[in-house]
Formats: sequence, C-alpha cells, structure tokens
Amino acid sequence: MKTKIAFLGCGSMGEAILAGMLAAGTSPQSVAVTVRRPERAHELATSYGVTALAHNEETEANIQAVTGAGVVILGVKPAGIADLCREIAQDLAAESVVVSVAAAVSLAQLEGALKAGQAVIRSMPNTPLKVGRGVVALSTGSSVDEHQLAAAHAVFAGSGVVLDVPEEQQNAVSAISGSGPAYAFYLAEAMAAAATDLGLAPEIAHILARETVAGAGLMLAEPGAVAAELRRAVTSPNGTTEQALASFDRDGLPAIISAGAQAAAARAAAITEELGHK
Ligand SMILES: NC(=O)c1ccc[n+]([C@@H]2O[C@H](COP(=O)([O-])OP(=O)(O)OC[C@H]3O[C@@H](n4cnc5c(N)ncnc54)[C@H](OP(=O)(O)O)[C@@H]3O)[C@@H](O)[C@H]2O)c1
Repeated sequence: MKTKIAFLGCGSMGEAILAGMLAAGTSPQSVAVTVRRPERAHELATSYGVTALAHNEETEANIQAVTGAGVVILGVKPAGIADLCREIAQDLAAESVVVSVAAAVSLAQLEGALKAGQAVIRSMPNTPLKVGRGVVALSTGSSVDEHQLAAAHAVFAGSGVVLDVPEEQQNAVSAISGSGPAYAFYLAEAMAAAATDLGLAPEIAHILARETVAGAGLMLAEPGAVAAELRRAVTSPNGTTEQALASFDRDGLPAIISAGAQAAAARAAAITEELGHK
C-alpha cells in the first residue's frame, strides 16, 4: 500500500494492527506512529522500522503524523478519542479517512469532534490481527466513499477477515470478537486449573491447556471449518468427551457465556452514554 498511514496511539491494539499490516507487505516507510512515551516510540521504531513520535516530548507529534496521511487510525483509549479528534481535525488531508478502533465511541461522537464532511469509519478489530488471524468489523460514517472504505479494508485485509456491519451491531461485535480473545484465554486458564484439580503439576497443566486451545484454534482456522462439526468429530457416543460436554450443558455453560457477552455489550452502550456527556 503506497498511502501514508498514521497510527495515533499504538498500544496492544495498535501494535496488533501494525504488526499484521507490515507482515502482510505494507512498507514501514509509509507508516507514522505516535504514542505518549519516548521509550515506547523508540521500541516501535526499533521493532518495526516505522517513524515513531512521542507526544510527551513532541507536542505536535499527532499533527506531524497525520500530515499527508491517507488513512489515520485512532488507537487511544475511548476516553481520549474526542480530544485527539479535535487536536488533528484541521490538519487532516481533505481526502483522508479516519478509522477509529475505539470500543463504544460512536460515529456521531467521532464526526462531531472532526470537521464537517470528514470521512470516518468506526471499527472493531481484535488482537489476533497480530498473528494474521484477526477479524474486524467496519461501519462507515456519512462521508465515506468507496475508495476510502477500500483503503480501510486494505489496512486489515492482510491480517484478518474484514466485515462491514451497520453501526448498531458494533457493541455486539465488540462483545464477541473484540473481547473474545480474552474469553479463549480464560478457557485455557480454567482448563489449566481443572488439570491441577485432577492432580497434574502446574507446569504440565499449563502446557496441556495452552497447546490444546491453540491447536483447536488452528483446526477451526482451516477453510470451511465449523465448530459444531469439529466438536462432534471428537465426541464418541458414551465416551469421555461426551461426559464432559453433558456436564457443561447441565451446568448451563452456553447461558453463562451468553450472559457474559450481554454484559460486555451493555458496558459498551454505557460507555457510549458516558462519553456523550463529556
Ligand atoms: N486491546 C484490545 O483487545 C482491543 C480490542 C478492540 C478495540 N480496542 C480499542 O483499542 C483502543 C486502544 O486500546 P489498547 O488496549 O491498545 O490500549 P493501550 O495499550 O493503552 O494503548 C493506547 C495507546 O495510546 C497511546 N496514547 C495515549 N494518548 C495519546 C495521545 N494523546 N497521543 C498519542 N498517543 C497516545 C499510548 O501511548 P503510551 O504507550 O506511550 O502510553 C498507547 O500507545 C481502545 O480505544 C480500545 O477500545 C482494543
């Protein structure tokens, strides 16, 4: 991609997108990154070969990064997004597209903090983008044209699956794929704890759980894989796995997971409300 891309804020999420994008072939010379701390800027410049500026020592860092950029990715925490938009609004190129990765920040809030007519996309990525297995959902603001949407797709396409969804579905997306990697890690933790309950040593328990979740994830990543079919293929009638799954069902595990996702989506809606009142 020849377009200059600016990352404003590059922590866990920004780095996952950056690493995936560079691994997929984007030139580091076309990327400018900003963070707060000089040591973090140095780390990113050294690891990825990108231009990295620290806002704490260069107050114009964000403005420098967006100057001439075709795609501007907002990767700070939700509470910092509106201030960041106001800071860069006047310096964005007319044809640029701003892509927010912030959970719960609405298109109306983004557009309200930028110049009228600015192209804006709200996205919900996830950290497996870092290893080329992410998924991201995009929702477009009122001024986005097809070239700008294609440029946003191109940022993510090499490192994951890109979907377009209506904005009202973004909190649900956040509750499944945005937060979802943490659910998978939580499952691995719970399996390791179960292994120690069965008498295995903690280091063996950790390896068994980690490799099993990672290996199952790779099987699920095969083209055309369907979770229910993979599960049935390893569940013999009257066998051991069937006993475990029946126990999960009796204890209501699907409902527990659904309630957790509902809680995540409700929190996203509450954050949108809180931000709206600032
Ligand atoms: N983590 C996830 O799994 C995930 C998933 C989906 C969406 N998101 C969204 O991604 C966004 C970032 O989350 P995160 O987990 O990556 O947070 P994070 O690790 O705390 O990263 C935030 C980054 O923003 C930088 N920053 C803060 N203020 C800045 C400013 N004024 N100018 C330039 N850089 C600034 C920080 O710099 P320093 O490093 O120097 O402090 C840091 O690099 C959030 O809005 C979140 O909703 C995250």
